[in-house]
Amino acid sequence: MALLLTREDVISVLDMAACMDVVEQAFAELAHGTAVLPLRINITPPDGLALYMPAYLKEMGALACKVVTVYKKNPDKFGIPTTIGKVLLQNPETGEVICVMDGGYLTAVRTGAASGVATKFMARKDDGMTAGIFGAGVQAKMQLWAVTVARKISKAVVYDVSGEAADKFIAEMGKKLGLEVAKAASPDEVLATDVICTATSSPTPIFDGKKVKEGTHINGIGSHTPKARELDTEIIARSRLVGDSREACFKEAGDIMIPLAEGAIDEDHFYAELGEVIVGEKIGRETDVEITLFKSNGLAIQDAATAKLVYDKAVASATGTEVEI
Ligand SMILES: NC(=O)c1ccc[n+]([C@@H]2O[C@H](COP(=O)([O-])OP(=O)(O)OC[C@H]3O[C@@H](n4cnc5c(N)ncnc54)[C@H](O)[C@@H]3O)[C@@H](O)[C@H]2O)c1
Repeated sequence: MALLLTREDVISVLDMAACMDVVEQAFAELAHGTAVLPLRINITPPDGLALYMPAYLKEMGALACKVVTVYKKNPDKFGIPTTIGKVLLQNPETGEVICVMDGGYLTAVRTGAASGVATKFMARKDDGMTAGIFGAGVQAKMQLWAVTVARKISKAVVYDVSGEAADKFIAEMGKKLGLEVAKAASPDEVLATDVICTATSSPTPIFDGKKVKEGTHINGIGSHTPKARELDTEIIARSRLVGDSREACFKEAGDIMIPLAEGAIDEDHFYAELGEVIVGEKIGRETDVEITLFKSNGLAIQDAATAKLVYDKAVASATGTEVEI
């Protein structure tokens, strides 16, 4: 028997604080060498992109593969979303598939969770800090949620090129988090905050890195292809740079690859992987004036850890439908 979990099932059992805990453990396993994380497999059928993301976390007992497709013609041609994802969870002792679950909400929460963990280890610790979010889409909402779990945030601002998206974000997240969330009139208003998340679909830099104030922490999650970047060369060069994976940053992240190609930084500028900071091999922040930056590309270990969490919670609360496949 396998458990089937719909999007609503996943939403009902998945909480950000719990997700941050397992994502932190997953990155620690990566640093300790108990995670198996093959490179993402990409297949390009004529109209789209199919991504296969497997991972195994030995200590956690999580073995999973996420299948995500990005088909840009889907909404117009078939009335279905551009991005569709499912996660298949296996029993590592028998190999059996024990659960198939929707992957859309899971992806947004686990992406938020990685930024939340990075914020926990890298941001300043002052009370009453402010958060600034670039982008008001699916990922951006989970970024703000995670930052409020990691730090006491007094107020947030959001900037999106779509004013309508920003209005929806403010209504939804203000209520969900019980937090004052305001619309930023310009990118500069976001740069005045203490913890910044960039979660846009922009392929080009979204703010001027020279204007970022001392002591800021940034989570950059939006772009993850070699030619696209949300962050300019200046902010990469000014920051203590931590990434989810060295390999992913050098092979997939335009945010890092473009400044490298320009000769503005060299590979030694990449300070650490997040897992190395979590296990104490490297330091997330040394002073209150330095700028720290976490570059997220999205790793399958985050999906595997989160899928195991969702499955365990669903079993405990009798959520979902058992099926014989
Ligand atoms: N790092 C990861 O693990 C990870 C995981 C999932 C998605 N992503 C990426 O995150 C990005 C956002 O995904 P999403 O699902 O939230 O998309 P979305 O379409 O729901 O939201 C993107 C938002 O960005 C806004 N935007 C575009 N250009 C902007 C700019 N210059 N300034 C401010 N706002 C701007 C858009 O108007 C839109 O509201 C995508 O690039 C996606 O590939 C990363």
